[in-house]
Amino acid sequence: MPSVSQILSDTVERALGAPALLRAADPKFGDYQANGIMTVAKARNENPRALAEKIIQQLDVTGICEPPTIAGPGFINFKLKPVFVAAQITGASRDERHGVPVVAKPKTIVIDFSSPNVAKPMHVGHIRSTILGDTLARIGKFLGHRVITDNHIGDWGTQFGMLIIGWKQYRNDAALAADPIGELERLYKFINDKPELRDAAKAELVKLQQGDAENLAIWQKIIELSKQEFEKIYRRLGVSFDHTFGESFYNPMLPAVVADLRHCGLATESDGAFCIFFPGQDSPLIVQKADGAFLYGTTDLATLKYRITEWQPDEIVYVTDARQQLHFKQVFAAAAKWFPAVPDLRHVFSGSILGEDGKPLKTRSGQNVKLGELLDEAEERALAVVAEKNPELPEDVRRQIARAVGIGAVKYADLSQNRTTDYIFSWDKMLAMNGNTAPYLQYAYVRVQSIFRKAGDTTGAAPVTLEHPTELDLAKHILRFSDTLEAVLADDKPNWLTGYLYELAGKFSVFYANCPVIQSVEPTRSSRLVLCRLTADIMKRGLNLLGIDVIEQM
Ligand code: ARG
Repeated sequence: MPSVSQILSDTVERALGAPALLRAADPKFGDYQANGIMTVAKARNENPRALAEKIIQQLDVTGICEPPTIAGPGFINFKLKPVFVAAQITGASRDERHGVPVVAKPKTIVIDFSSPNVAKPMHVGHIRSTILGDTLARIGKFLGHRVITDNHIGDWGTQFGMLIIGWKQYRNDAALAADPIGELERLYKFINDKPELRDAAKAELVKLQQGDAENLAIWQKIIELSKQEFEKIYRRLGVSFDHTFGESFYNPMLPAVVADLRHCGLATESDGAFCIFFPGQDSPLIVQKADGAFLYGTTDLATLKYRITEWQPDEIVYVTDARQQLHFKQVFAAAAKWFPAVPDLRHVFSGSILGEDGKPLKTRSGQNVKLGELLDEAEERALAVVAEKNPELPEDVRRQIARAVGIGAVKYADLSQNRTTDYIFSWDKMLAMNGNTAPYLQYAYVRVQSIFRKAGDTTGAAPVTLEHPTELDLAKHILRFSDTLEAVLADDKPNWLTGYLYELAGKFSVFYANCPVIQSVEPTRSSRLVLCRLTADIMKRGLNLLGIDVIEQM
């Protein structure tokens, strides 16, 4: 079913003969505001207020809202009629998508996210790219887009020279079996600290690049072991990918990429290397070093070419930390010159996670915090909260709840931040039962569910009527769910969805405090139960789109 903002924007568009955008209005004056009139007025050399007047005359919205009013230099405000809101809510309650329409024009969106480097443990910083990308993918799919997810792991590079020497001469098989990535990391550091082995490492790398069978086999084994470890984390986080091609997949394409870049004059020689220069910028994008080696940027250009040819995407979204901004600026600028047409390329970057001291989060001994250990701690801490709240529950149920709460808390704490800024990691804040946290929302869901248990019946398909102002307020908020999801996807900002859900829980509490549900008489009772059901469904769906599980008891 079409959303309210869609119905209104279509109506205005028809009268205006041009696109009209609907957004939330200042609640003092209405529920929605149309803009776009000023642009049209300017183009037609008309007075915007006069044009707005003319549009209003032509609008037939009697079934939807009170007579529209003009605000400012030419906005139109709409205040929905409660009967219309009630009808929409009734429709949404009978729709398995809760009234969220599928987009009219589905796009193909490639999301490149998580992308850790092999032979290194995933650390706390990887959580941002991993869950941000996952959320955007979930929301994109739910809205009906064709989403292709690709984990662009770093599985090629000079580090393999050192890893191979380490593997051949210093490997500890018991350690490798117990903690594969830990052992690989140890080997890498061990060799890296031995300058006398540098030449030997370089020789192993050259052998690998030339296709030496033994070195290729070791390289593959290292990737396999790393992927298995990554997979453990992804399983715990509920994250999956359509593809994990990795950088190495593009190796065979790199010579042709550089040849083509040179051929069309984009890459030029500089001290034996080939570079793409950008006017007004000091640092070029190096695509081939003087020794013939290709670089990270070369791979990204090859990757882009592959994705464009293979999938014809409308958008490609790269999710990484903020330190890669220059890299992507350069890659995008190069792509704009290299391809006749490029998709919408976006670098979705995030700030750092800081410790309580305001510096990048580290362990007490100054190491990077490993993601696996962080998730363990989250579950342990959540278990303590659950045990305190619900000591009667059997151990396995408590653990299951703790998993949803602990992992959910970590994810939510991250997704509820403005992604571009750094934030301070705080267990106490993210696990708090009050405030804008996952446990608060999970508990809010449990409370709504308990209403149905008490009511002793499953809600039928009763029509909804909206009597009390708090009930109307909740209903109007519910009708904004689809606008929220679209806004999150348009601006890559999941914190708008967390904010929406937090507000939903707040509005539900106010409604529940003011409107008896089970104790009220029919038909109010059934109508309110339907409203409760829809609220719970949207809470569940919203959390699911953030990759967070709901629980039935807490
Ligand atoms: N492996 C890279 C890193 O850990 C991130 C890759 C991001 N994606 C890309 N297409 N460059 O920094």
